[in-house]
Order: sequence, then C-alpha cells, then structure tokens
Amino acid sequence: MQFLLFVGANNTLAAEEVSAQIKKATQISPNVYRFEMGSVDEAKIIAERLGSSIKLAVLLEGVIPGAKSIAKEIKAKNFSLSLLGKKENTSKLHQEVKDNLERGRFVIPKDEFGVSPVINKKHKIDEFFLDIENNQVWQTVWVHSFMHWIKKDRHMPHIDPQAGMLPPKIARSMVNLVPLSPEGKILVDPFCGSGRVLVEAAEVGYQIGGTDIVTNQVQDTIENLQSMNFSGKIEVLDATHLSDKFSNIDAIVTEPFLGKSKFRQDEIRYIVPGLEKLYLGCLKDWLKVLKPGGFVVMVFPWFNDGKKEYKTSEIIDGKLKLSYNPLKRGIFYSRPDADVKREIVILQKQ
Ligand SMILES: C[S@@+](CC[C@H](N)C(=O)[O-])C[C@H]1O[C@@H](n2cnc3c(N)ncnc32)[C@H](O)[C@@H]1O
Repeated sequence: MQFLLFVGANNTLAAEEVSAQIKKATQISPNVYRFEMGSVDEAKIIAERLGSSIKLAVLLEGVIPGAKSIAKEIKAKNFSLSLLGKKENTSKLHQEVKDNLERGRFVIPKDEFGVSPVINKKHKIDEFFLDIENNQVWQTVWVHSFMHWIKKDRHMPHIDPQAGMLPPKIARSMVNLVPLSPEGKILVDPFCGSGRVLVEAAEVGYQIGGTDIVTNQVQDTIENLQSMNFSGKIEVLDATHLSDKFSNIDAIVTEPFLGKSKFRQDEIRYIVPGLEKLYLGCLKDWLKVLKPGGFVVMVFPWFNDGKKEYKTSEIIDGKLKLSYNPLKRGIFYSRPDADVKREIVILQKQ
C-alpha cells in the first residue's frame, strides 16, 4: 500500500528522522514523504513513533479525483478536499462532491496540507488529497496525538523554558536518529535537564538513564518521568565523568550545555573554547561507557560573532576521529536566523 506522510517542520531533522525510520521514503515536497508499507496499521505505528509526523494518508486504489468517485468514499458527516501540493481554491470542487451526497457538510482547508489535526479530530472529517496529474486520491487515516504532545510540552510537573528545554517533538526526532530498535537497549542523556530526551526515549521503548550536574534538574527529571509512569537511573554527575556510574550503554542522545543563554558577541571567542573542552572531555569519557558500535546523537552549537563562524562540532575532526566514526553531520533544527545554530551530529564508536 502507498502512503503519504506529512511532517510539521521543513527542516533537515525531519528529513533525517524519516529516512532513518522509513526505508525507501521519497520526499515529494518539502513537507511530504511517500512510502510503501504492508498495511495501514503498520504505517500508523511508524507515523505515531516519529516526532516530525503530523498526518498520514493512504492511496485509495480505484478512486479517481472526480466528484462522484470521491462522494462514494465519504462515510462521515463532514468532508474536506485538498489539491496535493497546490494552494488553489477548492470551493467549487467541494460543492460538486456535496451535490453527489444525500447529506454532508464540507470544511474548506486553509492550505494544501488540509485541515489541522485539531479540526480533523474535533469535527470527525473524512479528508482527501487529490492528485489531479496522477489521477489519484489519498485519504487521511491518522493525525498526530496533539493533546499528548501539548501535555508533554506544557503540562509536565517541571517546565522551565528559561533552562533551554527541547520541544518534545524535537527530542523524539533526535531519539529516532539512533539506528537501533529500542527494545532491551539502554539510552542515556548525560545533560538531562528536565528530562525531555528521556521521556521520549522511554516512550519509544528504551531503558533510560540520565545525569545532570545540578541536583534540582535531576529531581525535575525524576518527577517528570514519574508523571508519565517511567523511571530510570538518574544521577547527579558531571557528564565528563559518566563512566563513574554507567557502563554498557547502547546510545547517548543529548543536547549538552550550550553556554549561558545571554552573551555579547565579543564574548563568543572566549565561550567557544570552554564548550569545546567540555565536549571533548565528554566524548573521551563516553568511549568507556559505550558498547562497541554504540551511538552518540549530540547537539553542537554554532556561534557567529560577525567575523567568524565557530562550529563546535569541528572538535570531532581531531584525534577523536580515531575512536568515533561520524555517521552524519549537518542536521539542523534551529531557525536560520537564530543566534545559536544547533547542529546535530551522529557518531558511532569504532
Ligand atoms: C541545554 S540543557 C539540557 C536540556 C534538556 N535537553 C531538556 O530539554 O530538558 C543542559 C543541561 O546541562 C546541565 N549541565 C551543565 N554542565 C554540565 C556538566 N558538566 N555535566 C552534566 N550536566 C551539565 C545543565 O544543568 C542543564 O540542565
């Protein structure tokens, strides 16, 4: 069966997550991927697992983008039509389909991505995407669990936007960059903050562990995890000393300390060497705790002081290359105009 996956963010992280989790997915537009899978249930499981996914549609075999053909597929009280990849007005088309129904109401979507998941669920809409050029009709079969994502973003016991928390969907996508199936595997975040990465890792099935140098953060992580019925070994520890308390780890996924949140441009050249020393210390220590072939998915900040771009990930190009194989670099999730760009790098212990 053929499927379309709509992703929320047009960034390299979403693209990387899709390609890591869905073999042979092809990007048909910046936010839409096409893939093949044995059943709708299987495709839904994959869509549910991804942080970047918003909506999933299946190709309706034998249905063509004509009013009569589409009308036959409508079972719900409400329906909505979009032209795949096109922003054109679809009012006339909606009316034509409605004329072929005994009863039914339509909702005109605001753009080519159809109605929002909230509207879709609230009004129980049968939603279709029409591909006129290829004579195909796709129907939405799944939308993301927005209430669950909002809960994790805004209603955990400990939320502190000032501390630079990762949005849960970004944390989930980072976890999904680890090329492992989670069951029975141990994933650790040595800079766990309030535990965003660990909540996502536990949700997809990893056994989890975490450390933070600040006692309160460790407590916050433990309580955030408890609120979701998860637990793990969470310790107060300097990330450069992970090997004091951990061993046999399959994967480390982390957004480390990225420097103080407010700084002047002329301070950058002093901030960067300190961060580089910290990251080098960590990556050296983590060699002792990672299993052979284990993975590190880590954020490296890029700074720009107007004269020069400081890419902290360049530390990997030194001696560390003997110990880690860089599988992927240049995955970004920050806005292009952000003060500090965040590059995600995937490393594998040699
Ligand atoms: C960018 S935050 C991580 C946020 C986390 N990803 C989240 O979404 O909650 C960095 C964390 O690293 C911690 N930290 C700073 N230096 C550390 C070190 N040397 N070892 C361990 N943790 C450290 C800070 O206390 C902070 O909680």
